[in-house]
Formats: sequence, C-alpha cells, structure tokens
Amino acid sequence: VTYLILSFIVSFLLGSIPWGVIVSKLAFKKDLRDEGSGNIGTTNAMRTLGKAGGAAVFALDFGKGLLSGWLAAYVFAPAVAGVPMDIAAADGELLLGISSNPTLNPVALCMALAFAGCALGHIFSPWLKFHGGKGIAVAAACLLFVYGPVGFLIEVAVFAAGVLATRYVSVGSIAAAVVCPLLGLYFYWGNWVAWVIILATALVVIWAHRANIGRLRAGTENRIGSKKKVAQ
Ligand code: G3P
Repeated sequence: VTYLILSFIVSFLLGSIPWGVIVSKLAFKKDLRDEGSGNIGTTNAMRTLGKAGGAAVFALDFGKGLLSGWLAAYVFAPAVAGVPMDIAAADGELLLGISSNPTLNPVALCMALAFAGCALGHIFSPWLKFHGGKGIAVAAACLLFVYGPVGFLIEVAVFAAGVLATRYVSVGSIAAAVVCPLLGLYFYWGNWVAWVIILATALVVIWAHRANIGRLRAGTENRIGSKKKVAQ
C-alpha cells in the first residue's frame, strides 16, 4: 500500500510542476495565464510564445508524464508486486498479469494511480493555487507506460484525427480523453478498480476542457492558424 500511495504522490508532484508558467516567465517574460486562452499547456504556448516556446513546454510536460509512468512501471509496480526491477523491465505485461485477483491487481492499481496523479497534479497544481492545465500532454506520455506503445499510438492517432479533421486542438484532446477509458476496457479488462481510476481521470480531463466545450458550442473556439483574436 505504501508504494501505491507513493506512486500517486510522486506522480502528483511531478505533474504539478507548472512548466508552462515557468518557461513563459523565465524565457519570455510573460505569464501564459495572461496570454491567449490563458491555459498553461502546449497549445497556448505555441499560440502565444511561438514554436520554440511551444516545443519547450511540450517537451517538459511530456517529460514529466514519461517520468511518472516510468517510475510506476519500473520502480513502484515491481515493488508492489515483489518482483525485481530487472524482470519488470523485461516484461511489463508479465507484471500486469501477475495477480490472481485482477479486480485489485496491485500492479494495475499502481499504474492507474500514477496516471491519475500526474494528470491531476497538472490540472490542480498546488503551486498555482490548485489551478493548472488540461492534462493532455502529461497524460498521453504516462499512457505510454500505462497502456504500452500500442495504446499510446492509438491515442495519438485519435488526437491527430480530431485535430486534422476540425483544426481545433481541443476536439482532438477531448476525443482522446473519451477514447482513453474505452481502450482501458481492453488493456485493463477485469482490473475494475484501476479502470475506474482511469475513467475518473479522463472525466476530469474532459471537465478541464469545459471552457473549450462552451466555445465549441458557441462557435468561438480558437482554430489552429486562425488570425482571429484568441478567445479565453
Ligand atoms: O489540451 C489543451 C487544448 O485542448 C486546448 O488548449 O489553449 O486552446 O484551451 P487551449
């Protein structure tokens, strides 16, 4: 149980590092929260800081998600399961299949808690008075370990299809968040507690897009490349 709690707390703390605010303040003497859509993520960084700023925020946010997932898969989950790290590193699938009681499979729980931790840390950052971003980059990176490369690539494809079809980044993001628990039905079948944690996290990510959903309904959402004034 200690390692399960650690998996959540470490991921939450990693997720809570507000790279968008740090990069924009240090390198651009701006605060992303006062610019464009006011969001601290990659889309708004691209929009208001340019390609270099956007790439930096993406890399750092993605990096904290990767680190959360990696720590869960290769440090906390093996500790929870009582398996040495080198075996875990050799076979992540073996770890997921290790429990005779899938509903409370500690490995699945550990991975789901890391996923929830880094996304919630990003969205409710204690350093930003429990405000933050929308969790897409960080959650996607973590999914590379939670679902593995195939699940990750499906999510990237869903995101890309949503963005390319509509030129709204938020549509790709929301579509990926909707698909996430559906994919979990395959990757975490039987691991129901873990699946509910993944589902709840995806719902919070969708909720974090509520302003985008409002703008999409009103027809005022910001399109990629649009010269129109950015709506908050
Ligand atoms: O994931 C964030 C993206 O979907 C929307 O960002 O800045 O347009 O609110 P933004």
